[in-house]
Amino acid sequence: MILILATRNKGKVREIESALAMPSLTFQSLNDFPDLPEVIEDGDSFLENALKKARTVSESLNLPVLADDSGLEVDSLKGAPGVWSARFSGPAATDQQNNEKLLTLLQGLPEQKRTARFVCILVLYPPSGRWVRTEGTCQGRIALSPEGDQGFGYDPVFYLPEFQKTMAQLPLETKNRISHRAISDED
Ligand code: IMP
Repeated sequence: MILILATRNKGKVREIESALAMPSLTFQSLNDFPDLPEVIEDGDSFLENALKKARTVSESLNLPVLADDSGLEVDSLKGAPGVWSARFSGPAATDQQNNEKLLTLLQGLPEQKRTARFVCILVLYPPSGRWVRTEGTCQGRIALSPEGDQGFGYDPVFYLPEFQKTMAQLPLETKNRISHRAISDED
């Protein structure tokens, strides 16, 4: 069976492929379909965005599609950046710029107030249109400075007290066991 991953983010593709690997599944991502138009993520929630991506791509290709919408919620910023995580410091923001903006906003905030979570909504949309969703979260806090070079996005500034490391200091196998994409409320 072919499963289309509705993302061009190579970090996400690597993680989802490694988490769902099984002999009967062949993965393709939007990088294999460069002509498909970009789906504008203009929803107010992770679910709206994930469903829009999954439905649009599935209807274009007539194939089953898995779409993930995910982001970081920081308690002291009232849940920001949330659905704006990828574009926190502007429309063409790099991961490094987003991390710098976050650390600047939290400057001087003590450890116990730097609580945050990664959130992930996954939508599986088959050509029949009978879609299903699942949600996962991963709790941590925002580090004082970036550490580590694994992963992507906010991983270098997302500190996990139980490991005493940032997500970017953990091997992919460990991230795939504990992350918001790995842990689902349907398990
Ligand atoms: P989107 O789901 O493609 O709209 O973007 C989600 C954004 O949230 C990414 O660009 C990252 O900035 C952030 N994000 C989502 N998942 C992770 C993760 O596992 N690690 C670090 N950052 C993440």
